[in-house]
Amino acid sequence: MILKTDRLILRPWEDSDAPELFLYAKDPAIGPIAGWPPHKSVEESRQIIRQVFSAPETYAVVLKETGKPIGSIGLLLGSNCTIALPDEACELGFWIGVPYWGQGLIPEASRELIRHAFTTLGMREVWCTANLENANSLRVQEKLGFTFDHDIPQYYSELMNEIVSLRANRLLRADWENMRQEH
Ligand SMILES: CC(C)(COP(=O)(O)OP(=O)(O)OC[C@H]1O[C@@H](n2cnc3c(N)ncnc32)[C@H](O)[C@@H]1OP(=O)(O)O)[C@@H](O)C(=O)NCCC(=O)NCCS
Repeated sequence: MILKTDRLILRPWEDSDAPELFLYAKDPAIGPIAGWPPHKSVEESRQIIRQVFSAPETYAVVLKETGKPIGSIGLLLGSNCTIALPDEACELGFWIGVPYWGQGLIPEASRELIRHAFTTLGMREVWCTANLENANSLRVQEKLGFTFDHDIPQYYSELMNEIVSLRANRLLRADWENMRQEH
């Protein structure tokens, strides 16, 4: 599946994206706050593309202007989710390379993926979690209309092998529909 927004194309990751992925994913400002260690080599990035980004509903965030991937976004389903979710719920996850922060690109990609989740996939709830210290992610979630559900003060982050405080926010389909009518 390929999704499009004004500035972006969301498309499946490809093996040949490994050098671009490494360029951004090696930066310690990206992975650790999102729960994964920085990539150490292009080869590791290639393995992540094959083993992790091959999951359903995982997309490379490609800038239309350059045709190159600059981040990743996806809907985690079932047991892949950070927390146990009800049926017909999924979890939104995202990151974007540091040079592209602050341009509203992830909110733009997220709006399209949330639309896809509620309409094409028939979801009733989209969830999003973030480390309580991750002000940027919490701000994005606020802009998208997610509201507080609960905190997990001691969440074990397996990939980082550390305990973090996590916030779980939620967007209901009914609230999303109302939000759309208001705009
Ligand atoms: C969270 C993240 C995806 C936000 O993506 P984005 O496309 O930059 O989102 P926005 O442009 O809406 O910026 C969100 C907030 O980041 C802040 N910000 C951080 N760096 C910034 C910069 N260089 N320029 C401007 N704003 C910046 C601003 O507070 C902004 O809020 P505002 O729109 O009210 O000013 C991005 O910061 C990121 O990849 N972080 C690391 C990975 C991560 O945290 N993933 C989420 C895990 S839960």
